[in-house]
Formats: sequence, structure tokens, C-alpha cells
Amino acid sequence: MDVKLSGGAIGRAVGIVTLAVSSVVLGLAGAACSKGDSAGAAASASAKSPVEAIEVPTFTISTAQADIDRGKELFAGKGCGACHKIGGGKLVGPDLKGVTARREQVWIERMILRPEVMTKEDPTAKDLFKTYMTQMTNQGIDPKDQLPALLAFLKSNEQ
Ligand code: HEC
Repeated sequence: MDVKLSGGAIGRAVGIVTLAVSSVVLGLAGAACSKGDSAGAAASASAKSPVEAIEVPTFTISTAQADIDRGKELFAGKGCGACHKIGGGKLVGPDLKGVTARREQVWIERMILRPEVMTKEDPTAKDLFKTYMTQMTNQGIDPKDQLPALLAFLKSNEQ
């Protein structure tokens, strides 16, 4: 640079450069910071609770007789009937009559698929465990194939 600057001009020029540099640094710091924040928000949004982490399929409960019948067979075949009655009071576990009316569908699905997680992590299931003092066992129900049929059967006993 072949420009002659007086001392004061150099001082000002340096001052301007310093300002420019520091604002770039600040800008970067700001960017890094907001990037960090959004990554943090994304992480907490995807950090599911153990209950939420129990994946359940989304489906509308069938009212078709064939599905209800299949659910009834599964209820007996998968051992649910050893611990639950449907109407007539409690057995090892609660009477499941009307369970589809008193609980959310997703909650019931999680309970059937992962009862051992639910009784430790879900407040309602914890209370049931306190009352019944037996851990419902995981019956290895297939979420896509068997679960919808079981729900159809439970729903058919709502009234
Ligand atoms: C070993 C006994 C046992 C077996 C087998 C069993 N359960 Fe359970 N179930 C329980 C108990 C006990 C509870 C209450 C929660 C707890 O203490 O684990 C319960 C809770 C439930 C609930 C919640 C009831 C409510 O009032 O909210 C549903 C729904 C349920 N069971 C469905 C099933 C289905 C469907 C099967 C078969 C795939 C099954 N259970 C097999 C013992 C059993």
C-alpha cells in the first residue's frame, strides 16, 4: 500500500480494522452459539422418554368380526387370559372390560408391547403395579400383526 497516512489516520485505520475483525469474531461466535442452541433443541426434541421410545404402530381399531375373533384367539393363545378376565372382576391383573374406554389406545399398545418398561416409567402403570403387585409379562406380541387384532378384541368388549 503506497498511501501515506498521518499517525492519527493510521490509528483510525487500525481502529476500524480492529472493529471489523472483532465484529467478524463476534458474528462467528454468535453463529456458533445459535448453531449450538438449535442442535441442543433438536437433541432434546429427539431425546424421547423411555415410554415414548416404545414404538407403536398407528392404526384405527378394527370392528370387523374376523379381527375380533382372531384377537380373541390370541388373547387365549398368548396367555393374556391366564391373568386377565374380561368382565367378572380382577384376576392376577385388572379386568380388561372397557379398558379401551378408560385408557388411550397408544397407552394400551405400549402396555401390551413393553409392560416391563411401563410399570417402571409410566405413572398410571406404576400405580397399577402397586395395586396388583405382579409384573405383567411381555408376551412377545407382534406389533403389526397381532397387536391390532388384540385391540379389536378388547374394543369389542367395551360395552
Ligand atoms: C402374568 C400375568 C399377566 C399376563 C400374562 C398378561 N397381563 Fe396384562 N396385566 C397384568 C398385570 C398384573 C397388570 C397391571 C400392571 C402390572 O402390575 O404389571 C396388567 C395390565 C394390563 C393392561 C392395563 C389394564 C388397565 O386397567 O389399564 C392391559 C391392557 C393388559 N394388561 C393387557 C394384556 C394383554 C393383551 C395380555 C396378553 C398379550 C396380557 N395383558 C398378559 C398381568 C398380566
